[in-house]
Amino acid sequence: MKMNEKVRKAFSTQINREFYSAFLYLQMSDWLNQNSFPGAAHWMYIQYMEELSHAQGLFEYLQMRGVKADIDRIDKPEPETWENVQAVFEGALKHEQQITAWINELVDIAAEAGDKAAVLFLDWYVIEQVEEEANQEDNCDNVSSASGQPGPLRMWDKQMGTRVFVPAVIPYLE
Ligand code: FEO
Repeated sequence: MKMNEKVRKAFSTQINREFYSAFLYLQMSDWLNQNSFPGAAHWMYIQYMEELSHAQGLFEYLQMRGVKADIDRIDKPEPETWENVQAVFEGALKHEQQITAWINELVDIAAEAGDKAAVLFLDWYVIEQVEEEANQEDNCDNVSSASGQPGPLRMWDKQMGTRVFVPAVIPYLE
């Protein structure tokens, strides 16, 4: 099925944004590790892997449609450092809210082009963003309630270290 050029370009842009997200979370993971939060660093490393799978899903979709994916340079993730652990997760939440807006924009572009198949494919990403934001909101709340108390903060970090990577099963790609 032919794909509108504007839709193809918008998918390509989103691939780049998902890779950027992966690198941002990798940088956050590094900061957390350097600042003695090994559990949260592990959680964020898994988030990095999730973002890679989001990018790969969009890439595979373009391949399935038989159109070119524009592979572009990925910007350096910013910021490079954070004031404290709370700021890391507030940054992650803000970033997820931005991704939600971009995914919604992508859906609108596909819908305007009458590409119902692309809109249907993107449903998974729309729902995934609900979970992505909810996870980061939970992290912000948990860090906030443990803040300034070494015991609860250590317990929270230990809990974060139990996260297991579950590969995303994106419908229509199997
Ligand atoms: Fe790919 Fe966290 O959104």
